[in-house]
Amino acid sequence: MKNIFPLSVILLLIFVSCDQTASLKVQVQKSGLVVDSAMVVSAHPLASEIGAKILKQGGNAVDAAIAVQFALAVVYPVAGNIGGGGFMVIRESYGKTATLDFREKAPAGSDRDMYLDENQEVIENLSLRGHLAPGVPGSVAGMAEAYEKFGTLPWEKLLDPAIDLAEKGFQLTAREAGALNGNQEAFRKYNTIVPEFVMNEKGWQEGDIIKYKDLAATLKLIKAKGKDGFYKGITAKNIVEEMKRGNGIISLEDLENYQATWRNPLMGQYKGYRIITMPPPSSGGVALLQLLKSIEPYAIGELGYGTAASIHLMTEAERRVYADRATHLGDPDFWDVPVDQLIDAAYNAERMADFHPDSATLSADISAGQAALAESTETTHFSIVDKYGNAVAVTTTLNGGFGSKVFVAGSGFLLNNEMDDFSIKPGVPNYYGLIGGEANAIAPGKRMLSSMTPTIVEKDGKLLMLVGTPGGSTIITSVFQTILNVIEYGMNMEQAVNAKRVHHQWKPDTLFVETNAVDSLTMLTLKSMGHQISDRGRIGRVDAILMRKDNRLEAGADERGDDTAAGF
Ligand code: GLY
Repeated sequence: MKNIFPLSVILLLIFVSCDQTASLKVQVQKSGLVVDSAMVVSAHPLASEIGAKILKQGGNAVDAAIAVQFALAVVYPVAGNIGGGGFMVIRESYGKTATLDFREKAPAGSDRDMYLDENQEVIENLSLRGHLAPGVPGSVAGMAEAYEKFGTLPWEKLLDPAIDLAEKGFQLTAREAGALNGNQEAFRKYNTIVPEFVMNEKGWQEGDIIKYKDLAATLKLIKAKGKDGFYKGITAKNIVEEMKRGNGIISLEDLENYQATWRNPLMGQYKGYRIITMPPPSSGGVALLQLLKSIEPYAIGELGYGTAASIHLMTEAERRVYADRATHLGDPDFWDVPVDQLIDAAYNAERMADFHPDSATLSADISAGQAALAESTETTHFSIVDKYGNAVAVTTTLNGGFGSKVFVAGSGFLLNNEMDDFSIKPGVPNYYGLIGGEANAIAPGKRMLSSMTPTIVEKDGKLLMLVGTPGGSTIITSVFQTILNVIEYGMNMEQAVNAKRVHHQWKPDTLFVETNAVDSLTMLTLKSMGHQISDRGRIGRVDAILMRKDNRLEAGADERGDDTAAGF
């Protein structure tokens, strides 16, 4: 065992791993799961079950996270991946923390104006679709790095379940069938060799079996060679050939040079709760702490969940924080991000000094710029607690649904379209309507700014909650609201995750509300305060775990998706 467990737990682990007869049966439940020992909550029931079985075999939360990441790459290709990137937040049972950055990087051949035409105008879709959209993938390096430091079970054991699913096939859920059907044209258009394994002229149906043979072969290479099974040899060669056929720029050197990076966890306090979250190149942790600091002086709990007053307060904090995000946040290896100042209580109090409880501030009065919000937002989050009390929160992404839509021919996996998370032209909104400037401009080897916010909350030195979500720019506000739902409004985990959400991101100057999130009177009150309101079908898909007062683990698997908990 590496350094994740104290000695007493190591002895227990040896005992457990000798007990080959131990039943691997785990509970798998869409909603309402409460268990005594260990739990996984993810976007797909098969991935959650695989993770819980790893935990049952004595694996720790990092082992399970690795198995879940690879399983999601098979069963949930809309966002699960080996061709994307992400972040991992770890809290060991005795309180030590770590954060791993396996975010994609801009290829060495990239340049800040690569998505602009000769008139310096953005070329539509170039950063979003096809072979110029991907950054150098980080997920496999991330899993190998996490394993190196914390893994306990044999690496092969963590790959086997995903390989099995890819090789033997698995049943599609209705949502997945619909997602594949909705992308048939894009798969045909953006691939140099049509990925026949996802094509279906009659349309995929719920319950259909789908197999990913080439992906199974790639996972076997990763199983045999670790990181080198992806960044070198056949897989790397296939990626580079794919790039050449489609005029992409990821090279063998880009792949060989990719490294995942341990970062210092970002910590903050909110009313006696300790928040452990992801530092830059995610903007998520900084923005989450800014939001909490901005509202801390106001009694949001007393204002009530879903009232005009509490929504107004959150919105006013959000427009100020997202304005800061656009200017100050970028890859810390390339840009000096003023993290300490941004999360400082006095700084955020100053930002809120012109907050008025009865009227909205115009975003235009906070800063300049125009933006429009795109609809679809795909990323995925999973939360894991093992029976030793270790906790791991992972958010991982291809960026948009099915990323760039490009499968690496012969290797069977999708490449991300993460390059769009850079500011491709100052002041021009990305896919999520977010705008940025110099801090997040493209540069070779730089990581694009993210909003992913895997977060762990402690109370009195003990684990309280793990939380995270997909949703692009809405990730930060969804995590923010889920935390408040528990801390301020006394909801249980499932209620907190399923509660309706609202979102504001400074630009556009629009308060987005989920369908039926607010009643008509609240809507009228918010409008009379000066808020521009727009309905947004759904916001986020939070997968969370709460450590209850009785020390049992309670799942929050978002009802907005197929998200499911598994545990024992
Ligand atoms: N691609 C979404 C994010 O990283 O924020």
